[in-house]
This record gives sequence, C-alpha cells and structure tokens, in this order.
Amino acid sequence: MRQAGRYLPDYRSIRERVSFLDLCRNSELAAEVTINAARFLDVDAAIVFADILLPLVPMGLGLRFEKGDGPVIERPLRTAAAIDALPQVDVRDALSFVGKTIELTCAELDDAVPTIGFAGAPFTLASYAIEGGSSRNFVATKTFMYTQTRAWDSLMTYVADLTARYLMMQIDAGASAVQLFDSWVGCLTPDDYRRFVLPYTRRVVASLGSRVPVIYFGTDTTTQLESIRTCGADVIGLDWRVDLDRAWEVIGEEIAVQGNFDPVNLFADPETIRLEVRTILARAGGRSGHIFNLGHGVLPGTPVDNVRTLIDAVHEYGK
Ligand code: CP3
Repeated sequence: MRQAGRYLPDYRSIRERVSFLDLCRNSELAAEVTINAARFLDVDAAIVFADILLPLVPMGLGLRFEKGDGPVIERPLRTAAAIDALPQVDVRDALSFVGKTIELTCAELDDAVPTIGFAGAPFTLASYAIEGGSSRNFVATKTFMYTQTRAWDSLMTYVADLTARYLMMQIDAGASAVQLFDSWVGCLTPDDYRRFVLPYTRRVVASLGSRVPVIYFGTDTTTQLESIRTCGADVIGLDWRVDLDRAWEVIGEEIAVQGNFDPVNLFADPETIRLEVRTILARAGGRSGHIFNLGHGVLPGTPVDNVRTLIDAVHEYGK
C-alpha cells in the first residue's frame, strides 16, 4: 500500500511537475511510477498507481487534492434527491486510463510480478462522497446512514455496482488480483457493519464471479472480522492492531490473510524491523495463504532503505 508514493525521491521529483490527478490520468507516467517502485523495492507484486477516489469524478462530485489537506470533494452528497440524481456512469470508459496503466504495467513487468488492481469498497467511497473529504468521526456519513436508510441503500447499491464494473475493467486489462479498500469501516459498530455495509461488500465481490482473487482490507476491524470473513473475499487484509494468528483463527484457515506490519515500525532501526518481520512470520507459522504486507500504507517520510530492509527480511526469513 502506497508502494509508489511520497516517501520515494523519484516519485517526489515527478510530482514537482505533474499534479496527483494528472499523474493518475497519464497512463504512461502512472505505469512508470508503478514499475519503478516495484523494481526498486523488489516486491512480489505491483499495485497499480491510481486512487480510490477517482470514480467520484465521473459521478460528478468534483475532486481535487490540496497540498497538506488531502482530498476535497466539491459537491458532497447530502440529500436523497442528490443520490437519486446521480448519473449512470460508463466507468469503463470514464476511467479507461486506469485499465491502460494496468496494460502497460503488465507488459513491462516480469510474469513473476503480478499487477494488483484496486478500488474503494462501497462504505469507504460513500463516506468520502458524503463527508466531502477525510473525516475523523464520520458524523455526516453515520447520520445519513441512520436517518435516511432508503437513500443509503440506493447510494451503496449504486457505488457497489459502479465499483464492480470498474474492477471488471481492471481485470480485463490484466490485473491478477483486485483489492477492495475499506479503510475506514473500523469506525462502525459490529451491528452497523453487518446491517449497513456487509450486504454491499458482498454484492461487489459476488459480481466479480471469482475471475481473480479478491482481497478485502480495512483498518481497526478486529471486532468485525467475524462478519468480514463472510464477505466472499479470498484474502482478508489485517492492520497491525491485531495479532495475525488470533485474527486468522477468527477468519478461518480456508481464507488467506494479508498483513500486518505496523508502517510506523519502518521508522525504527534495521534490527527492530527484522525482528518484527520474524514475529509476524512466526505468527503465520509457515501456513500457506499468508501474504506479507504492511497493516496500512507507507507513510511520507519513511526511510526508503528501511522499506528495502523489510522486503529483504521477508524474502530471507519467509523462504
Ligand atoms: O502505490 C500504491 O499503493 C497505489 C496507489 C494508491 C494511492 N492511493 C495513491 C495515492 C492506493 C492503493 C491508494 C488508495 C487510497 N486512496 C486509499 C485506501 C488506502 C488507505 O490509505 O487507506 C484512500 C483512503 C485514498 C484516498 C486518498 N488519496 C487520500 C486520503 C489521500 C491524501 C492523503 C495524503 O496523505 O495526502 C490520497 C492521495 C494519494 N493517493 C497519494 C498517493 C501516492 C499522495 C498524493 C501526493 O501528494 O502525491
């Protein structure tokens, strides 16, 4: 996660001349950023350079990224009427540049390094659409969910179907797996997750029809894993707030797990990083179906050499 990002000097120098959204839209450049990061880091899979918020543009909500403030959605959804008026979007066409980036990336990378496509999961994308940006307590989203249940269902169904079409396009373009980012579902009670989110997550996963493995990732999901395990995904991503072996017991061994190194640990010294890698691998206990990953994205300012140290350690100890 954030394999290619601001912690990399090469990325920062490209970003000096191109805005973030223009970089996403420029398939040649986005592929270059993806490929360079994957090669430099020597990772076992590349995640395509794009963003979960891109579908908000063809949805007509307006999107810009402000330096330091994160994303700004210019016309957030606040009423049932606004949801009823959402356009029918041909997302394959509107976001075809992401498919092109995947094609270019697959053509360039060795077959041994698969390309992962991704999208926001319905709850997390809907939360940005309603809040108008990043949020701490998700007051607008939850208030909407509790008080406008019918409109919530329409919005979540709309977003789920759009997301399924978007991911199908990425699979057609060559993605070997797709990841659904439900970064902020940890703000919900387990009951709310089951009632207001899980049916729509299931709808996306079921629509993909097992063409490629599906990874579902959220943060702060420890109390929701019992529900999450039933969403249909082949792999469940874990953040660092949970012991990997305990989480896997809840999820069940027939489902794979991904995680769960604390990205802040990458600011420590190499020995600490290597020790934590061994701890996580020991919790995985040599079982098949563990994808080593961070528990969330690489943070800006992370020492690049430490990311290499982590990856080398996983390759060394994970053999
Ligand atoms: O290399 C990769 O990992 C693939 C690219 C990728 C980005 N965003 C690029 C990006 C992926 C997989 C994402 C997912 C994403 N985007 C998520 C889910 C994962 C997570 O972090 O929880 C979310 C919530 C977003 C929305 C988003 N995009 C926010 C909130 C921000 C601003 C954050 C900030 O720190 O400024 C972004 C911008 C963004 N997306 C950057 C990158 C590399 C930084 C943009 C820049 O300034 O260059």
